[in-house]
Amino acid sequence: MSNADKHDHHDHDADEPQALPADGDLHGLLAEYDTPGELVEAARKVRDAGFTEFDCYSPFPVHGIDEAMGIKRTILPVLIFGGGFTGLILGLLLQWWTNAFNWPWNISGKPTWSIPANIPIGFETTILLSVFTTFFGMWTLNKLPQVWHPLFRNERFNRVTDDGFFLGIEAKDRRFDAETTTKLLSDAGAIGIDKIHLDPDPAKKVMPKWIFAVIAATTALALIPFAIAAKARNSKSSEPHIHIFADMDFQPKYKSDVAMDEFADSRANRGNIEGTVSRNPASLKADEAFYYGLEDDPTPAPEGAPVATGPAKRWITGFPKAVDADQRLMDRGKQRFEIYCTPCHGYDGRGAGTVPNRVAQGGGLWQAQNLVDPGKKLITIPNGQLFNTISNGAATMPGYAGQIPHRDRWAIVLYVRALQRAQNASLDDVPADQKGSIR
Ligand code: HEC
Repeated sequence: MSNADKHDHHDHDADEPQALPADGDLHGLLAEYDTPGELVEAARKVRDAGFTEFDCYSPFPVHGIDEAMGIKRTILPVLIFGGGFTGLILGLLLQWWTNAFNWPWNISGKPTWSIPANIPIGFETTILLSVFTTFFGMWTLNKLPQVWHPLFRNERFNRVTDDGFFLGIEAKDRRFDAETTTKLLSDAGAIGIDKIHLDPDPAKKVMPKWIFAVIAATTALALIPFAIAAKARNSKSSEPHIHIFADMDFQPKYKSDVAMDEFADSRANRGNIEGTVSRNPASLKADEAFYYGLEDDPTPAPEGAPVATGPAKRWITGFPKAVDADQRLMDRGKQRFEIYCTPCHGYDGRGAGTVPNRVAQGGGLWQAQNLVDPGKKLITIPNGQLFNTISNGAATMPGYAGQIPHRDRWAIVLYVRALQRAQNASLDDVPADQKGSIR
């Protein structure tokens, strides 16, 4: 062999497509067509001949190809509807089971299970299962993930992402016959037809092993945190918690109630600094009558009483100077009372509001006080104490300081006094000139 010969041979080798391994079983036939239009026509002929196990491949979507191939509409929408409906039913069942069956809880006598309250969660679970069905249904119906296909063994097929239009028929189609099917494809105008064989190595007919290995390994690794959590839940340790992000959780500082040897009394908290006054009038609240319903108590403490920390206080009986107990305040008080107090105490203050009624309907008991009962102390308690009850609540009644401003609380006090007076009126309360009209 001459040098030139060698050289030639070498070049020839490089140009030749890499030799495929020896062939295995027949997978099917691959036909190439020159234009998308011819591909559509070929697909129609193959469909008309009764084939079902075939597919078309092109670099871009070809209009009309699905109709020509006889591809049926996907059933995915039906599956998604089923998924969404299942989600809705499961969401409603979950709420019924938790709220009405497993742990029913009487909240102001409200029904434990009611459709309007279930709508947001029902909506969410509907969407959740619809989306899952869409996502996984698409993968499953498309037989994904598929990382390899026998057609990839064909050199010609590489052009499918560029300028090649192909039709492949699988040998498993019951009408498949190597000779007649080849004739059908070429009659339909194929510019080239290849037999496609599977790889002779049976291991290469399935997904590569290393992919399974990676999936198995990542699955195993993903289970480790759960295993650690499960172990932590079932074992005890005297070690401090692992604190990955310290942020500012550990600081060289003293908290209010800790000991500190620096000072003679060993307290870290040095108390209020003598004579300090807040510059913010809202937090200063110097007007104790207005803000707290309190005033200084001038009566001397009885002999032997415990030593008070500050000046003695008592509830005010009238109204603070900052408030004018006039008709405007009364109107305001009526309006505020009917917003804030009526739901429980009723319009007349006798305690028959909607909330206690509903609690009773639900089999519970949560009775708001009768505010106007002449036999009860509420008639006689000082205004300051009534104000304080509105601010801070009493027993199971919540405080309303957060919702009702101070002035409005005083307006309500005035209106409660009017209710008490009106519902316990005697003949003496009627003006003299109108007494005659009473029957
Ligand atoms: C959410 C229901 C509810 C609302 C709203 C409510 N109350 Fe009450 N209130 C109660 C209940 C319940 C009691 C009885 C508390 C107890 O004794 O356990 C009560 C008790 C009281 C008492 C008697 C407290 C005592 O010393 O025994 C007063 C006074 C009172 N309410 C005034 C008011 C006023 C004024 C308002 C409007 C600002 C108001 N409540 C709004 C439920 C309510």
